[in-house]
Amino acid sequence: MSSSVSEKAITGVPLVDLRRQYHSIKEEIDSAIRDVLESQAFILGPQVKEFENLFASYCNTKHAIGVSSGTDALLLALKSLGIRDGDEVITSPFTFFATVGSICNTGAKPVFVDIEPESFNIRPDLIEKCISKKTKAIIPVHLYGQCADMDPILEIAKKHDIKVIEDSAQSIGAEYKGRKSGSMGDLGCFSFFPSKNLGGLGDGGMVTCNSDELEELIYMLRIHGGKPKNYYPVLGINGRLDTIQASVLIKKLRHIDLWCEKRREKASYYTERMKGLNLVKPKAKKFNKHVFHLYVIRVQERDRFIEHLRANNIDCAVHYPVPQHLQKCLAYLGYKEGDMPEAERAAKETVSLPIFPEITKEEQDYVIDTIKDFSKDD
Ligand SMILES: Cc1ncc(COP(=O)(O)O)c(C=O)c1O
Repeated sequence: MSSSVSEKAITGVPLVDLRRQYHSIKEEIDSAIRDVLESQAFILGPQVKEFENLFASYCNTKHAIGVSSGTDALLLALKSLGIRDGDEVITSPFTFFATVGSICNTGAKPVFVDIEPESFNIRPDLIEKCISKKTKAIIPVHLYGQCADMDPILEIAKKHDIKVIEDSAQSIGAEYKGRKSGSMGDLGCFSFFPSKNLGGLGDGGMVTCNSDELEELIYMLRIHGGKPKNYYPVLGINGRLDTIQASVLIKKLRHIDLWCEKRREKASYYTERMKGLNLVKPKAKKFNKHVFHLYVIRVQERDRFIEHLRANNIDCAVHYPVPQHLQKCLAYLGYKEGDMPEAERAAKETVSLPIFPEITKEEQDYVIDTIKDFSKDD
């Protein structure tokens, strides 16, 4: 480590440390699990409905349906709209693969629209020319904790009579013009993957909506499409949220606003202290409340930058190194390099720095000083 890095006891920083959060609310979590163990009601116990009600009320939606993962939330949302082979769904190429994989798993074809370079979210002004007779839905992804520009997206969808599914996996608690992530489209899809802002103890997810019909259909689709039991009017999947996950998430939901606020503070601190450095810092649009699931910067010479951080025991990651239109398994779609220039540039330049509610000022200072050190060598 270079001598100019501050002489603190810090010798490394993890990208995220889930143990700190667990230990801060250990008794709440342990007792929630004990209650489920005592009841042995592991499948659709009463905590699932209780969590669904709390979650819907948190997101300002009429309904919330607990499901087995964020990926299944997307798949079930698409299925509930009847999306199938022959249909097209517009989305961003700069997202986690699950957004796109879910579309493909319905048999539909993903159609990609490039991103805005500042927010990394889908560019609304490019959507309309990609709409065809086969287009059934748009999935804007609220990446890194910041909502996509929803008003023009909703307007286009209304004009062409197509549905909007928000991929809110990374953005619980985020707001767009005062509206909560997951409450603006026809359906919202959330993930409780452990490292998410609201993370479970394994996989879990949620679908939000305001339509009674969609709610009823998704309840059926998450239990194979059955109603009543053993009668299957539609084809679904085994996609329920576990009672243990729901019981833990009930406890964690109480803290989500505080945790989001802490993430926002930590992000401001990075941004403030990295002023003047030769890198691009994340920018929240003025109408957005960004909840910083990830703090993502752009750097030139990214590989050398990452090597420098890792040499100083700073964990970092690239979300995402391959834009989805260039994934091998999607070659049949016919996209090639150069088709989505901003997504491709983002895939080459972005780095996620350590951020989580419990990261300390000393750890952040260590990260910043290590980055400053790199800039000096630049
Ligand atoms: C943008 C996005 N969509 C979908 C998912 C899928 O969620 P899960 O991992 O819970 O299936 C994730 C998270 O992993 C994600 O980040």
